Amino acid sequence: MNVLILGSGGREHAMAWGMRDSSLLSNLYVAPGNAGTSEVATNVDLDPMDFKGIKKFVNEKKIELVVVGPEAPLVGGIVDYFKGDKDLKSVGIIGPNKVAAQLEGSKDFAKAFMQKYNVPTARYQSFEPSTLKEGQQYLTTLKAPYVLKADGLAAGKGVLILNDLKEAQKALKDLLDGQFGEASKKVVIEEFLKGVEMSVFVITDGDSYKILPEAKDYKRIGEGDTGPNTGGMGAISPVPFCSPEFIDKIDAQIIIPTLKGLKSEGIPYNGFIFFGLMKVGNEPYVIEYNCRMGDPETEVVIPRIKSDFLNLLDATAHGTLSEQHVEVDPRAAATVVMVSKGYPDKYEKGKEITGLQSASHAIVFHAGTKVSKDRVVSNGGRVLAVTSYGHTIDHALDACYERIEGIHFAGKNYRKDLGKDMLKYMQKA
Ligand code: AMP
Ligand code: GLY
Repeated sequence: MNVLILGSGGREHAMAWGMRDSSLLSNLYVAPGNAGTSEVATNVDLDPMDFKGIKKFVNEKKIELVVVGPEAPLVGGIVDYFKGDKDLKSVGIIGPNKVAAQLEGSKDFAKAFMQKYNVPTARYQSFEPSTLKEGQQYLTTLKAPYVLKADGLAAGKGVLILNDLKEAQKALKDLLDGQFGEASKKVVIEEFLKGVEMSVFVITDGDSYKILPEAKDYKRIGEGDTGPNTGGMGAISPVPFCSPEFIDKIDAQIIIPTLKGLKSEGIPYNGFIFFGLMKVGNEPYVIEYNCRMGDPETEVVIPRIKSDFLNLLDATAHGTLSEQHVEVDPRAAATVVMVSKGYPDKYEKGKEITGLQSASHAIVFHAGTKVSKDRVVSNGGRVLAVTSYGHTIDHALDACYERIEGIHFAGKNYRKDLGKDMLKYMQKA
């Protein structure tokens, strides 16, 4: 098969890595890719939002499967574009259509969907500029902390958690006044859930589905989970506090009702669903849906999938997933993200990266990198995701940190405390 992956992060490098040895693979392309993807695939200078350009490339190279990495092209309707085009409609594409992508693209849509199909989630109400006063009044009926979410995509910055009622009321006004443009012209206010977070990933062909290894990511820039949110500073899999019985509960209370809901709404879905969950006591609640894989979660999930990943995706695209089995590597995996100095605020790019070649077993997934004059240089806030296996999460993390010692670029930064918060669960187990 000729395969095209859209995207340029660690997630897309991990996907390319995951299918590089598949017996089904003929040619693998990544658009636009990064310095890492160019080692396992051919990079193509195409923007994932340039649907016409993608069409031309797919036709020219006889691409049979397109895997959409990030959410923007899905929310922008790339799947609808493919299904509605006579030349493209037979091409397999991984990702939901525009309506289903609203599960991620609109918090209000996702909350209404969960309520309709009895998927456990925090109580909520949505407000618009015309109902600002009602929203400020609704806040007084809740207890702190107050959770405010811009309805639309806001580059991961659209969720505000505030302790003070007055501040929350002011924040609601700022959001509705257009702090995030159109994305915050509607705001979801919801109850705060106190618990521990984790994520579960499913691939579905609309009928059948498979649960992939679960993961936990580390969102904050600072050690001890402090400072601003980032795209993700690392991830671990499996999640120490997630037992097989808890997965069964998530399956029964969340995954099955979600897939039934999609069916009842007549929404086809061939792709990934990422369930961002909060475990409150022993009960799972959905914090958010994403219509794609997570980054950096993919950098631990795919290394733990022993089955032929391309075969799974092919079956997902063609409705034959029920015939597949997902074999999981029993080892733990961890990934530590190396970021540019200053990230997630302002940072510089173009720093030369050295130490990428090594005999170590660690896998260095590239996130923001590119090749410039035969050197690999940084090209984003998140630069590399260094993944290792281990018998336990601890061992996997030790191996990541050892590998990181040998990789250098000016201003390299990473969190040194990943997994420490999990020790209490591991000792109990
Ligand atoms: P999201 O962008 O929806 O993933 O939200 C960002 C982060 O805000 C989540 O990872 C949680 O840590 C936190 N969060 C979102 N909703 C809630 C909630 N209802 N209760 C507690 N924390 C929340
Ligand atoms: N790591 C969180 C995300 O991909 O949304």
